[in-house]
Amino acid sequence: MLVSEGRPAPGGADDAVTYALAMALPTPRENTTAIVTGASSGIGAEMARELARRGHGLTLVARREDRLLALAAELTQASSVRVEVIAADLTDADSRGDLPALLASRGLTVDILINNAGFTTMGPVSNADRAAELALVRTNVEAVVDLCDLFIPGMLTRHRGAVLNTASTAAFQPLPGQASYGASKAFVLSYGRALAAELRGSGVSVTTLCPGPVETGFAEAAGMTDEEAAESLPKVMWVPASDVARAAIEALAAGRTVVIPGAANRVGAGLAHLAPKSILVPLMAKRHPALHADRGTPPGPPSDSDGGSH
Ligand SMILES: NC(=O)c1ccc[n+]([C@@H]2O[C@H](COP(=O)([O-])OP(=O)(O)OC[C@H]3O[C@@H](n4cnc5c(N)ncnc54)[C@H](OP(=O)(O)O)[C@@H]3O)[C@@H](O)[C@H]2O)c1
Repeated sequence: MLVSEGRPAPGGADDAVTYALAMALPTPRENTTAIVTGASSGIGAEMARELARRGHGLTLVARREDRLLALAAELTQASSVRVEVIAADLTDADSRGDLPALLASRGLTVDILINNAGFTTMGPVSNADRAAELALVRTNVEAVVDLCDLFIPGMLTRHRGAVLNTASTAAFQPLPGQASYGASKAFVLSYGRALAAELRGSGVSVTTLCPGPVETGFAEAAGMTDEEAAESLPKVMWVPASDVARAAIEALAAGRTVVIPGAANRVGAGLAHLAPKSILVPLMAKRHPALHADRGTPPGPPSDSDGGSH
């Protein structure tokens, strides 16, 4: 694990003049930080920008240190907040386990935890790359549980904290073609809802973010071209990463349990949740581009239609 630091914060709570919009979030102080995992691109980078605008000191976590450092430089210049960079692979339990001591040694207390790092695999389970599937479960599920276990007890002791876990609209129904991804996000949604109920009234809130499709490095990381990603779901469902991040942090500030950015995605998630799965799921298997015969991965007849990648 590599650790780098941005410049120190100029002051404590009195400097948090941009904070007025977010009264339900813990007030930023000189020695408090918001951890954002998966901050090296996409939604995580935008959530970091949103929190910096609100005066929160940040700890940015992902593997690509160069991208984290570039974002840290941008944020310290634009918002005068303290930004620390920790280059870590979240599949690694030891790297995750080192985080509390690392932050404590810098005199930092975690008031906000954003578990956002994640990725998807594509294609039928029968063709799965075992290592990639296990890395997915470790990143999308194990790391979320582990970081909650590591940081929520301290928040509870202080009666102060806000947690946001990034799931997906893929959480509302099984997703053939991305079976382990859909299941991982269903886990995150179920876990977040339960945690929110357990912590009600404790001073610690838990919000689950469920975006639909968003243009980020996500599809590319899954081996899809931009064109394939854009064609996989209707245009009306695509929401820019900056809008998703703003909706997420506003929901976190309001103490909401679940947030689904974009009206079309809210309708889609509601329908997917209610639809009989015996009809919906086989239909989705027929329509998912990663299960098309022309990608060399059966099952079912070829289709001229789409299916989803979020
Ligand atoms: N884009 C969408 O359509 C969409 C829709 C719904 C939900 N989501 C969810 O939103 C979250 C953010 O995705 P995004 O769309 O912003 O995609 P992205 O641009 O690819 O960002 C993914 C982030 O996760 C980090 N990450 C992945 N594996 C990691 C690991 N082992 N250790 C540490 N960091 C890791 C990546 O950083 P490094 O590569 O530098 O490690 C990157 O910062 C994910 O949980 C994703 O499932 C995305």
